Amino acid sequence: MAKIKLLNIVGARPQIIKSSAISRANLLNFHEEIKEITLHTGQHYDKELSDVFFDELELPKPDFNLGVGSASHGRQTSLMITGIEEVLLNEKPDCVVLYGDTNSTLAGAIASAKLHFPVIHIEAGLRSFNKCMPEELNRIMSDHSSTLLFAPTNAAFKNLMNEGFRPENCPPYTIDNPKIYLTGDIMYDNSLFFAALAERKKASLLEQLSLEREKFVLVTIHRDINTDDIDRLKNILSTLKELAESYTIPLVMPFHPRTINSLNAWLRPLYDELRGCGYINIIPPCSYLEMTWFEKNCRMIITDSGGVQKESHFFRKPCIVLRKETEWIELVTNGTVKLADANPERIREEFTGFMNSGNGLEYPGFYGDGKAAEFILREILHLFES
Ligand code: UD1
Ligand code: UDP
Repeated sequence: MAKIKLLNIVGARPQIIKSSAISRANLLNFHEEIKEITLHTGQHYDKELSDVFFDELELPKPDFNLGVGSASHGRQTSLMITGIEEVLLNEKPDCVVLYGDTNSTLAGAIASAKLHFPVIHIEAGLRSFNKCMPEELNRIMSDHSSTLLFAPTNAAFKNLMNEGFRPENCPPYTIDNPKIYLTGDIMYDNSLFFAALAERKKASLLEQLSLEREKFVLVTIHRDINTDDIDRLKNILSTLKELAESYTIPLVMPFHPRTINSLNAWLRPLYDELRGCGYINIIPPCSYLEMTWFEKNCRMIITDSGGVQKESHFFRKPCIVLRKETEWIELVTNGTVKLADANPERIREEFTGFMNSGNGLEYPGFYGDGKAAEFILREILHLFES
């Protein structure tokens, strides 16, 4: 069989990290059968949202970078589609691998499906059941443009069945006869692989930020519902400041530029207050190993991120999610993730609950065996054998 040419499409921070799980598994097991090339849409372009991950995770530089940058959804996605189409026509990959639910995922799905390149969607089937989220539309459209769909959880697999995908489909698989798999989560593969390295390389963070293990809270905020709604952002941050002061516990906040932009534009006095508070440490977005170290050593996580709330589970930390709903519903059922939205009362209540009872929580293995990427690549090979 000729070597399969697989085109990875990435664009946002978490997609670069996710693609590293696939590249690592490929290098270890399949490099004689699969040649990977990578297209970066340029959705994220700041060094700390993009290059830092290629460097730290030792990924080859992308073969193509469309450099689309930031823009409205329509403009950004259309620039991506145009650029991806051109690369597809020139490169003629055997398949296109998409990750997650960003505008880069959607653009990759539309461009590839319309030109009849098989789409492989990793992290398929996740649903928030809130179509006001741009990511929910991206997920649904990407899943329905795919030939192989890799669901990370039981809930995601069931969501696909509820939308008409049939596990009993037989080869040859196509966009009209797609195959769905339950795989586990490639981000769990990554966390298992990098946890010890993070501990070895990043323990200096303790001194740099004057932290004590298990005695600080990690906070990330980047979702549009929080960054672009002044009242929500204000409620969240004022409540967190109050809690940090009353519990005398430091909060480490590696903030996305989007959050900093909003603070600068609309909440300057609050931003100054936060920076003047001895318990609050707002820092630039950090590298994946730094983030892994923070997650592994903190007392609790507060976030609106999909990836970070899941990583809270990998590192057995309670987590407050600053949203009304989540795609990782098993964590809520398990009681280790609490949905507090941007409601000060609920944030206080859940924070207090976790400060008092964090140690008795259980963290069952919802996310596979750490070999999801290997499984996915093997099934991609089968697609071309059949
Ligand atoms: C995007 C994804 C989101 C994902 C997140 C991961 C969509 C619709 N959203 O959100 O699902 O959770 O990435 O981090 O695809 N900006 C910079 N520097 C950059 C990139 C962005 O300053 O390198 C600023 C710009 O002001 C930009 C804003 O952040 O307008 C938002 O960027 P964008 O890529 O549109 O969405 P994210 O919020 O990053
Ligand atoms: N992450 C990181 N540095 C940060 C914030 C997040 O390396 O400052 C990592 C995090 O560990 C996780 C991924 O980025 O693996 C999650 O990305 P993000 O929260 O931006 O997006 P989401 O998962 O919500 O799409």
